[in-house]
Amino acid sequence: MSGAAPRLFISNAVWQTHGDAISSILGESAPVLYHPGQRVPAEHLAIAEVACLSSDLWPDWSGTYLRVCLDAPNLRWLHTFSAGIDHPVFRMFLDKGVRLTTSSGSSAVPIAHHVMMNLLDAARDVPRFLADQARHEWVPRDVEDLEGRTVGVIGMGPIGLEVARLAIAFGMRPIGMRRTVSGTEPCETWTFDRLDDLLAIVDDLVLVVPLTPETNGLIGAEQFAMMRPGTRLVNVGRGNLVDEPAMIEALRSGHLGWAALDVTSVEPLPADSPLWDMPNVVITPHSSGATRMNDVRAGAMFLDNLARYVRGEPMRNEVV
Ligand code: OXD
Repeated sequence: MSGAAPRLFISNAVWQTHGDAISSILGESAPVLYHPGQRVPAEHLAIAEVACLSSDLWPDWSGTYLRVCLDAPNLRWLHTFSAGIDHPVFRMFLDKGVRLTTSSGSSAVPIAHHVMMNLLDAARDVPRFLADQARHEWVPRDVEDLEGRTVGVIGMGPIGLEVARLAIAFGMRPIGMRRTVSGTEPCETWTFDRLDDLLAIVDDLVLVVPLTPETNGLIGAEQFAMMRPGTRLVNVGRGNLVDEPAMIEALRSGHLGWAALDVTSVEPLPADSPLWDMPNVVITPHSSGATRMNDVRAGAMFLDNLARYVRGEPMRNEVV
């Protein structure tokens, strides 16, 4: 390592979990620790060069932590445990010249498993069986196969690719959609100019695309109307990919057969949202990726990047 080791500004929980690994990269350089709810003295903040938004801070303390980071005068790099960086605060770091890296890829497996669970949940009518069970009623009924269904996967980053791979294993026909087709996707993949064609043929639609000005409101009333009656939607991307009032209308009429929502336009979903009471809606409050192994992988990504940062090498998942 040439020069002084960078000072980290990390949560107490990250230090407890990764302290040994961090020390093996940085030597004796003691981090500035963030204890949720406690003020960070300005002189401690002034020496912080590297920050890590970790999952233990989300959602209760992430906003406060990032505001503190924005005040750190010598911050050079922020790593986030998330894949998405659509929140405007991340742009503020980039505008200040702070480097930004994400944990894109760490949640691909749990979120793809969650998507398959949602698709099975709908095909196997699980909510109705649970309702029958709660009433102690034995009501045999036919359920559906996933095999043979066409699933549109909008967004073919690490999560979309894993969804496609699993969908193939379940005998489904996935069709991916992304800005630029690489040719290495595990399934047929189209560009966004064919969105209308895709909507007209899918049985299930999975949204995993990042929220950007181009994808904001991607699926609205017009797009719902293009879908076949009964189409099912799984949104594990961001709530604002969908025009929520239009989705509620489509669900009410039954034209949209089912929606599994891990994300909503406003989070937490307001208590008076009609979505809570709809029989064809399943809500999992932004929890699809919240597994221990996701944290393990995101932690490993941060440590790998920390070693790269110290060596002056390109970092992985840097937002440019
Ligand atoms: C993410 C998320 O961006 O889970 O990683 O929302």
